Amino acid sequence: MDLPYAEPYRIKMIEPIRRSSQAEREAWLARAKYNLFNLRSEEVYIDLLTDSGTGAMSSAQWAEIMLGDESYAGASSYYKLKETIADLTGLPFFLPAHQGRAAENVLFSALIGTGEEGRGKVVPGNSHFDTTKGHIESRHAHAVDCTIDEAFDTELDHPFKGNIDLGKLETVLKAHRREDIPLCLITVTCNSSGGQPVSLENIRATAALCRRYGIPVFLDAARFAENAWFIQQREASCAGMGIKDIVKAMFAEVDGCAMSSKKDGIVNIGGFTAYRGEELFRKAMGFNIMYEGYNTYGGMAGRDLGALSVGLREACEADYLAARIGQVAWLGQALVDAGVPVQRPFGGHAIFVDAKRFLPGVRKEEFVAQTLGVEVYREGGVRGVEIGAVLADRDPETRENRYPALELLRLAIPRRTYTNDHMAYVAATLIRVFERRKAITRGYRITWEAPILRHFTAEFAPLS
Ligand code: F0G
Repeated sequence: MDLPYAEPYRIKMIEPIRRSSQAEREAWLARAKYNLFNLRSEEVYIDLLTDSGTGAMSSAQWAEIMLGDESYAGASSYYKLKETIADLTGLPFFLPAHQGRAAENVLFSALIGTGEEGRGKVVPGNSHFDTTKGHIESRHAHAVDCTIDEAFDTELDHPFKGNIDLGKLETVLKAHRREDIPLCLITVTCNSSGGQPVSLENIRATAALCRRYGIPVFLDAARFAENAWFIQQREASCAGMGIKDIVKAMFAEVDGCAMSSKKDGIVNIGGFTAYRGEELFRKAMGFNIMYEGYNTYGGMAGRDLGALSVGLREACEADYLAARIGQVAWLGQALVDAGVPVQRPFGGHAIFVDAKRFLPGVRKEEFVAQTLGVEVYREGGVRGVEIGAVLADRDPETRENRYPALELLRLAIPRRTYTNDHMAYVAATLIRVFERRKAITRGYRITWEAPILRHFTAEFAPLS
């Protein structure tokens, strides 16, 4: 018998977390207006709000922090990162940014334009992330979701639910003038459809199709290493390839990327854009200097550039990825074994609980996944995040609520942060809510919301 798999690291420093009572949580929920973003972190026992910027850095990354070069221009930390990015992705030009959405702002300013320049333009892709969509829509352009239909059936086991439907994509490419399609964006893994991977074959086919129409292709590379691991495990033609070779092959197809380094960079803050072509790089440079900072720091401290250069390499190590994605699957399996409806197959960074099937008694107008998120927190102090109608927001033109096909509660697992005992606690908490699910029939109404990206700050009142 094989020995069991275990993490390829041990714990050197701990951070205390505290359990709370149900009465405390009730009071905190009311004060937070039932929006889990409004809780203080001390009020959360296990925080699965996001895997973004919440990972634990390695001793090698902390060592780089001490070596950080804080020079305004030409810092050695910048060159370390430049070398890592060129080595991993093959993209020769890069610009640091303070996080992923800032990278999107720079990239889209260069490609879509600013002010009114975006009107009438479309950006096809696979379920764009919400800030990505926000940056496209704030430029009056449209993000067109071309994800395969299989992604929206949570029970269907499909190895690459992040894939782009080439038929849908070609329809978009045919329906618009070339100059109205500034780019096609492939998000790896696809966060909004459940942390689901995109196959190398699909990246290649998408890029080939876009090339035929003269449309540049970019990766939203926030979770590129996790995507590469899934390709290695699930794509027969890549079974013998190393993670770094797969990463290279993914990036070889595209014209550049935007990256939130808070995910597979395993740092607490940071991002970048990278480019194959010098012309676009030079155009983006102007926006980077304006919005982020000079080219060799772009909104990041030198020490953070250094830690990122190490983190990107660590994220591509096969043993780390097996433990990381294995832990997510461990939680998923514990839930499945208890009958809790979760998206299959399990995602790379998170388990997505199917809230519509979990709480069939709650009407969509009363925010099903939001309701489930509150109940899970109430039960055990575990914080997930709603990926449903609150996040989907209103249509920018009609201002009507958008009701997405899926109402999900995402349990995002920070990298290298929690143990499997924590995951067992999370599973037990969800199972307790599942056991009393029939009694949960009413949800929430919104009492206040912001005009864009409302989910962060919306306030709710319970319906009864
Ligand atoms: N793209 C993807 C696919 C993301 O998941 C995120 C962030 C971003 C871009 C924006 O990056 O936060 O650094 O500005 N996702 C986080 C999450 C917030 O919780 O999924 P950012």
